[in-house]
Amino acid sequence: MNEKLEQIYNQAVQDLKEVKTLDDVNVLKNKYLSKKSELSSLSSLIPSLPNEEKKEFGQGLQKVKSFISLELDKLNQQLYLKELNEKLEKEQIDITLPGRNNIVGAKNPYYIVKDEIVDIFLKMGFEVAEGPEVETDLYNFELLNIPKDHPSRDMQDTFYLEDDLLLRTQTSAMQARFMEMKKGQPFKMICPGKTYRRDDDDATHSHQFSQIEGLVVDKNINMANLKATLELFVKKMFGEKRNIRLRSSYFPFTEPSVEIDISCASCGGKGCAMCKGSGYIEILGGGMVHPNVLRMSGYDPDIYSGFAFGLGIERVALLRYGIDDIRKLFTNDVRFIHQFKKRT
Ligand code: DAH
Repeated sequence: MNEKLEQIYNQAVQDLKEVKTLDDVNVLKNKYLSKKSELSSLSSLIPSLPNEEKKEFGQGLQKVKSFISLELDKLNQQLYLKELNEKLEKEQIDITLPGRNNIVGAKNPYYIVKDEIVDIFLKMGFEVAEGPEVETDLYNFELLNIPKDHPSRDMQDTFYLEDDLLLRTQTSAMQARFMEMKKGQPFKMICPGKTYRRDDDDATHSHQFSQIEGLVVDKNINMANLKATLELFVKKMFGEKRNIRLRSSYFPFTEPSVEIDISCASCGGKGCAMCKGSGYIEILGGGMVHPNVLRMSGYDPDIYSGFAFGLGIERVALLRYGIDDIRKLFTNDVRFIHQFKKRT
């Protein structure tokens, strides 16, 4: 029996010398230390040995096993470090190579235009106000002279949250809020903000869009003030050569009401495909504040008068930059947005 053990030991010493890789270590672990190894089968013979041989053989067997296990552990550690170092050496990174550039965003043309509009009106002495997007029926409709059964409610398909709570369909909802705040004092204000309508999204419609509301209330305000203010705005925004045209229209909260067109940039007013032959493009709604609206918000219409207007910010951006699809303003594709970088 001891001879057999010695033979295994000698063979193991020989095998250990030839180990070169971690795989070799594993092969030897299997060969000498696994349950299927020769050493294991020898140890299963111990119970059948004569008593006086049991101890010596058992100890001898254990010694050989421990020796092999220790040697294999040592080799394992050495080879692990060696292989790791080789790998690190091979995978060295060249830190002198130039890095990849990150794509930096740019200002969305919507914001370029919105900030410009606000800036133009600030310079004319307007205050900027912001109001809630979740609005009550009262401010979005009733105080704008649009009672519950008024047919003009159909013009604005509304997202209702509860019976009297809705997503505002127009920034005009800020008119009454602002007048209440001003408590009968004269003012000039604009209110930019998001608005919502139950429209199907396509190239020219979006269920969420933005408007800028304008409201001026004072003594002796008249239609000429409205026209002059918007003419100045259009020239600043679109260029000195653009003219405006007022067409009579209808809004429940203004009387008289107008729609305001700008002369077409492509043809200068002669008529082309862009303006559908009319020479003009509609950009604004406005008019003289209806006496009922003034009265309901605490201004005596016999003393005060006012004008109001509303324009769609996205529409101005589309016209200004010749963008053909409103959805491009919302998807934030950097390739699109970067085109407007230098024009700010
Ligand atoms: N709120 C109107 C709309 O969304 C736009 C508008 C028209 C606003 C006339 C006004 C106004 O203040 O006087 O269609």
